[in-house]
Amino acid sequence: MPITHEIFVDLPGRSYNVSVGVDILTDLGRIVASTTGSAGRVVVITDSNVGAIYADTVRGRLSDASGLCDVIEFPAGEEYKNLATYGDVMDRILALETPIDRRSVVVALGGGVVGDLGGFVAATALRGLPFINVPTTLLADVDAAVGGKTGLNAQAGKNLIGAFHQPSAVIIDAAVLETLPADELGNGLAECVKHGVIRDWALLDFIEDNAAKITSCQADTLAELIGRNVAIKAAVVSADERESGERAHLNFGHTIGHAIETAAGYGLLSHGQAVALGMVAAFHIAESRSLIDSSVVERVRKILAELSLPVQFDDLPNSPSDVRDPKCLRRVMSHDKKALGGVVRFVLPTAPGSVAIFDDVTDDQIEAAVAVLG
Ligand SMILES: NC(=O)c1ccc[n+]([C@@H]2O[C@H](COP(=O)([O-])OP(=O)(O)OC[C@H]3O[C@@H](n4cnc5c(N)ncnc54)[C@H](O)[C@@H]3O)[C@@H](O)[C@H]2O)c1
Repeated sequence: MPITHEIFVDLPGRSYNVSVGVDILTDLGRIVASTTGSAGRVVVITDSNVGAIYADTVRGRLSDASGLCDVIEFPAGEEYKNLATYGDVMDRILALETPIDRRSVVVALGGGVVGDLGGFVAATALRGLPFINVPTTLLADVDAAVGGKTGLNAQAGKNLIGAFHQPSAVIIDAAVLETLPADELGNGLAECVKHGVIRDWALLDFIEDNAAKITSCQADTLAELIGRNVAIKAAVVSADERESGERAHLNFGHTIGHAIETAAGYGLLSHGQAVALGMVAAFHIAESRSLIDSSVVERVRKILAELSLPVQFDDLPNSPSDVRDPKCLRRVMSHDKKALGGVVRFVLPTAPGSVAIFDDVTDDQIEAAVAVLG
């Protein structure tokens, strides 16, 4: 099966291609060799879930093409995206029987946790090795794998340790999403809806027309969905690599979404569920400020519901009372690392497919929007 989409991420001196297709992992060795320019030594970093399903295939393909391929696996889960795992993975790489050198290539095979940790290992091993990202969750495909942010969680908070390290290539095989648990698919779908809202209203038409094929993991449809979303993320990142301007638009839905996730406590709801609710709340704030009309809000609520994402608190299997308390959510928001001097910055829709940043959203508007969630 051919590559169906090639997206160029245009960054001065660090440009790269994102290749999207179905069953393209079978061609991984050739793609990696052609990207790195030589049949060099490859170290694959993966987690225990992804490794159990895909490590043998990937090792085989890479060994055929480059000769020497080691696989380093760490336990799956966000709780392992930390300094201890980083230290362990780094020590194991540096102790490999055939030592790595500056031409060795790190391949991160997994979801956003593996991409972030593997990318940070690549950024720091021998002061920086080439890095190829092979994402295996929809969230990593459409969001985490493109943009060059790598890193770890610290005791003080998520993603506080890290570096920008752009990959040399990103290779996305939509067929691997077949083994992804349904909740994990929802995390990526929330980001896809976000991309439609901020840049490409026609993407929402595509999602609405293909909701059944998407939720049942039809690979060709997912490849098309991923290609369109990567193009949006790549355009935003190319315009603003270090998040000083328009990259902030990618935070749409995340201001209230992060607060909901934090107030709920770890593991009670997924990131995608929180972002879906955050987007609905942001739409209600925009409506209350007469930026958009109610038909647009209803359309987005309908699309989220078709993707089995929540649009009100009652759609969640369990939501603790703190999450429903607007004052508690407002407090959490002003402690967010993205709040500047306690001012909570909102990205709000201003027209279909377009958003702007607002620093003057009032507590009353936030509380009214949270109240609409139920
Ligand atoms: N760097 C960035 O720009 C960026 C952007 C967004 C999110 N992130 C980070 O990404 C992480 C979340 O990523 P995620 O949602 O991919 O989570 P994840 O990496 O934890 O993957 C979710 C689960 O799915 C499993 N899995 C992955 N692919 C699979 C497959 N094909 N089949 C079966 N199981 C599979 C994993 O083992 C894990 O248990 C967070 O740490 C977040 O901070 C980074």
